[in-house]
Amino acid sequence: MSISLDKNIVIGITGGIAVYKSLSLIRLFKIAHCEVKVVATRNALKFITPLTIETLSQNVLYTDTFQRSEAFSVNHIAHSDWASAVIVAPATANIIGKMANGIADDALSTLLMACRKPIFIAPAMNNAMYEHPALQQNIETLVRRGIHLIKPATGFLACNAEGKGRMEEPERIFENVASYFLAPRPLQGRHALVSAGPTHEPIDPVRFIGNHSSGLMGFALAQKLAEAGAEVTLVSGPVSLSTPENGNITRIDVTTAAQMHKACRQYAARADIIVMAAAVADYTPETAEQEKIKKNTDNWQLSLTKTTDILRELGKQKTDHQIIMGFALETENEIEHAKAKLQSKNADFIVLNSLKEAGAGFIAATNKVTVFTREGAIIEIPLKSKTEIAYDLVQLICERCNCAKN
Ligand code: CTP
Repeated sequence: MSISLDKNIVIGITGGIAVYKSLSLIRLFKIAHCEVKVVATRNALKFITPLTIETLSQNVLYTDTFQRSEAFSVNHIAHSDWASAVIVAPATANIIGKMANGIADDALSTLLMACRKPIFIAPAMNNAMYEHPALQQNIETLVRRGIHLIKPATGFLACNAEGKGRMEEPERIFENVASYFLAPRPLQGRHALVSAGPTHEPIDPVRFIGNHSSGLMGFALAQKLAEAGAEVTLVSGPVSLSTPENGNITRIDVTTAAQMHKACRQYAARADIIVMAAAVADYTPETAEQEKIKKNTDNWQLSLTKTTDILRELGKQKTDHQIIMGFALETENEIEHAKAKLQSKNADFIVLNSLKEAGAGFIAATNKVTVFTREGAIIEIPLKSKTEIAYDLVQLICERCNCAKN
């Protein structure tokens, strides 16, 4: 028996031999009671005809940014507004490169850039192309932005080689998209406040005190919380990350600890979940000089004052329904310090990062953490990507939310 998805699906087709599978994909969505619109690149149409696509999708094919439609609309905006999800299958190295680098030079890439809906990509290419560092880096960028990757399979490729790069079968692509829509949203209706990244404390107009935090962990947490259905406010220090593409995330950019404090205080009261992943400066210069400080003396003393510990302050105001997760970064007596922070910051969870582990910590894309819970449990999460760690941490939050409900 087929499932009824009842969604508006845009299928983006790019030029690769795997386009023959896209036709089955259109059929699968139609059988699942979806409306399907197809956007194809010019190269895709070297492999299949518009007539085939239009017959299967029962909709007009969109292939040219300047194509005139019967009712006036700006096509790339209208399509992305209409879509419940966009699926690029096959996704060539070219479209992946364009998406990762913000190039919008045809109908599909322009639509993808305008799109704020869930996007799925199913890469299809030769194994050497798939393994190329440029392609891998582009995929990493897209995944970090919240785009859903449907990994290619390993097998016989059109170029007669064996390897990874075969577009996943249409049935698996359909299942991926369907399970996204049918997945439970345990945090639906909850609001989450997440802090991320470093803070920069100005010394003078050209210098600041900062730290190495990349913001990766906080952004991954915001993404996973949003995917679990929460409405997320992401308060971010200065980072070079783009906001995960999920309509449930509102980002507020701040620079200093004082600004981060102000923003967090503003959103904390309505938050059911508070995750403080930012590496907030503990001290800030007493005064930020208006003019650049000149090197006139051999010694220079900078006078610092303590910043507000945001986590501690929010912990003091914690209500019964709130769940608070804090982080700790220690270089010695890690367990003792992490446990002390649970108490002193009134948190439900403290996630301990160890700087001593290879592949873990501030800058790495991977992490290895130990979670300490209010009840005294200690949970080790082995080395994996920050996105995967974020997923595990959000599972812990979900479990606790269910406890809070009963
Ligand atoms: N934190 C915060 N505001 C601050 C300092 C820290 O919200 N001004 C939060 C961080 O986001 C993190 C946790 O507190 O979740 C732990 O930060 P950490 O720097 O490890 O610990 P501190 O409490 O600052 O203590 P210390 O530096 O002495 O270890």
